[in-house]
Amino acid sequence: MPLHRVDQARQYAPDDLYALPGAFEPLPRYRIPEGTMPARAAYQLIRDELLLDGNSRQNLATFCTTWSEPEVRELMSETLDKNLVDKDEYPQTAEIESRCVHVLADLWHAPDGASAVGCSTTGSSEAAMLAGLAMQRRWRAKRRAAGQPVERPNLVCGPVQVCWEKFGRYFDVELRQIPLLPNNLTMRPEQLAEYCDENTIGVVCTLGVTFNGEYEPVAEVSRALDELEQRTGFDIPVHVDAASGGFVAPFLEPGLEWDFRLARVKSINASGHKFGLSPLGVGWVVWRDAEYLPEELVFHVDYLGGDMPTFALNFSRPGGEVIAQYYNLVRLGREGYTSVQSACARVATQLADAVAELGPFSVLHDGRSGLPVVCWTLARPHGDWTLYDLSERLRLRGWQVPTYPLPADRQDVVVQRVVVRHGVSRDLAELLLGDLKAALADIQRRHLSGAEEQPGFHH
Ligand SMILES: Cc1ncc(COP(=O)(O)O)c(C=O)c1O
Repeated sequence: MPLHRVDQARQYAPDDLYALPGAFEPLPRYRIPEGTMPARAAYQLIRDELLLDGNSRQNLATFCTTWSEPEVRELMSETLDKNLVDKDEYPQTAEIESRCVHVLADLWHAPDGASAVGCSTTGSSEAAMLAGLAMQRRWRAKRRAAGQPVERPNLVCGPVQVCWEKFGRYFDVELRQIPLLPNNLTMRPEQLAEYCDENTIGVVCTLGVTFNGEYEPVAEVSRALDELEQRTGFDIPVHVDAASGGFVAPFLEPGLEWDFRLARVKSINASGHKFGLSPLGVGWVVWRDAEYLPEELVFHVDYLGGDMPTFALNFSRPGGEVIAQYYNLVRLGREGYTSVQSACARVATQLADAVAELGPFSVLHDGRSGLPVVCWTLARPHGDWTLYDLSERLRLRGWQVPTYPLPADRQDVVVQRVVVRHGVSRDLAELLLGDLKAALADIQRRHLSGAEEQPGFHH
């Protein structure tokens, strides 16, 4: 006897989400619909479309937060309506932003945490624009005061993230990127003198180079600039792009001098939404002293009948991410951040060692210092297959492991990189490794046999 009879098959209830009249039309792509749709149906249909996105937890390319505590989610949803720019309406949110700035200034050893100035931003890119503008305006004011021309400012850096190229293009500043020397993945201090001159508004050092996770040698760069000043009189400030490292180095390498302990470091940016562990949408920029943020860039708004100085490219912005940042700072404290980042570093080094043992790879960064990032290249060319093929095969299991060439002058070196961030557990790393081995074996077998076999389908 059949288990199901046709007349007993389930009839859709008339109000079933997928049986509603609207459910038989694709969602609008180009025009606002004339009528309404039940909230639940709109929610579910959009949610269904989002199934096509990658799974963020398996996105090993991103530095950004993909795991949060339930309390962060609660705070985010409870603060959905708070506009960070309305200091008068939401004075406590403004106070919390200010506390975060002072805590970070102190964490980065500002001479006086309470008198350092800074602000939250949408991320490190906006923070970079603000820090770059401050350097440009200070340089311009100095040059004008000395009766010198101000037409051709330049900014000197190593392998920076694209936000600095944007800064250069948007604000008419020549970006002088120092090429990588053979066997180096960061700029070297001895290269600086050739690129700096009287029009250099600053030098950007990256604490946690995006391409490989290494820290640039900020202290050595500062010393090289001290020597340059003695020889030439050029007094060039350093800005540290600590997008990721700003929330890692203070906990994993507290003795490393990269921050305001170095007198030449005048400003620092970091992404709260990366190793700061906050949800997407928050960055920070801090100046060691108000002197380094030209007053002409600061806007003054009324705040509880008083004056609140602001510096930002945006006007309205959500307050939730800033509040979540404060939650993380008070909830985790130094001890908590240290244990979270140490766990990441441990998983990264274990993964790096296992990848090195696989045979075909040469590990360029293993997470033992710098960011908890693993970066490798092919030790030698392997016939017909490349790291791009390997990325594609890993994608079949949902892993997003990026493959890309190193920056200018090392572009012949193609690398793969895994960011081990909060939530990339030892167990997940083991699963990745298992899939990496299987993908490698599969690719090698196919290329040895020289044929693209068609895999079977097993029910
Ligand atoms: C070193 C560095 N600077 C700046 C950025 C840009 O940061 P955001 O995405 O927060 O704008 C990144 C992003 O990966 C980065 O790694």
